[in-house]
Parts: sequence; C-alpha cells; structure tokens
Amino acid sequence: MIKAAILTISDKGSRGEREDKSGQVIREKLGEIQAEVVAYEVIPDERVLIAQRLKGLTEVANLLLTTGGTGVSPRDVTPEATRDVIEKELPGFAEAMRAESFKITPRALGSRAISGIHRESLIINLPGSPKAVAECLDVVLMAIPHVLELLKGNVEDCARK
Ligand code: MTE
Repeated sequence: MIKAAILTISDKGSRGEREDKSGQVIREKLGEIQAEVVAYEVIPDERVLIAQRLKGLTEVANLLLTTGGTGVSPRDVTPEATRDVIEKELPGFAEAMRAESFKITPRALGSRAISGIHRESLIINLPGSPKAVAECLDVVLMAIPHVLELLKGNVEDCARK
C-alpha cells in the first residue's frame, strides 16, 4: 500500500488567503495508483520549516508530494528544502516532468523542482498551479509504484524479460 503525504507550500495558502486547489488535484490523481493519503498540510515558504515537515512526514508516508515554491520568485525555496532532506537525488522524475511540460508551455522551464529519496520515501516537487500539478502527475504517476517497491527492497530482479 502506498502511503502518501501532500505538502502544499504557499505563503497565501498557509494564511488561509488562497484555496488549495492543487492539493485537491494531487489527492484525486493519487486515486489512480490506489495511494492512501495519510497526511495533508499547508505551510509557508520557509526553508527550515519545509525541511522539518518533509522529514517528519517520511515517518508516516513513503510518497511525499509537494506543490508550490519551485519557481524563481524570491520566496521560492522548496527545492533547497528538499535537498536538505534527501540522501539521494532521483532526477528522472523532475527531468521527465520538465521535458513533457515544456511541450505544453515554455514556462515549465521556470520550475526548479527536484525529486529524491529520504530513507524509504520518495519525495517529488510539483509546481504550484492546479493545471501544472495535473500535467506533471500525468507524466510520472505510473512510474511511482515500482520505485516505492524497490525502495522497500521488495524487488529482486526488475529487468523486464
Ligand atoms: N508545468 C506544467 N506542466 N504546466 C504549467 O502550466 N507552469 C510553470 C512551471 N511548470 C507550468 C509548469 C510556471 S508558470 C512556473 S512559475 C513554474 O512551474 C514554477 O511554479 P511554482 O513556483 O508555483 O512552483
């Protein structure tokens, strides 16, 4: 069973000044891989806090999806906070999302999202808008279950015959 945590990173959202539609999109998409959402939080764009919550959430979830704070605005620090937590980068997720998103909009190159591993948990940064979240998850969603199985050490030989 995939246990997922959704971490929405938004100054306005955390003050209750913006409805978190992106978190809702993530929740809906996670249904496609039968993931159970065990945690959901909305926090401001603060590097230390983001890193703290990411670490805490890996205690209860093996898939952590963040939304927001990946861009180039002065307050955007989600990739830095994620890097503070992961032991290994797993760049393919972020690379694939950026490459496919660029086919939809050149603005995709304004996202600095990363993806990586902390212990047995996979952390993936998603951009902030609901549209971008849906587009990005459509690219990588089906690749997630296999990676999580590998992280648990459950797959001995993953090469396709
Ligand atoms: N990716 C997809 N697939 N579709 C989009 O519309 N918007 C981009 C980009 N990635 C977009 C996208 C825009 S406009 C920005 S500014 C960056 O993500 C960073 O978003 P963030 O700062 O909200 O995380």
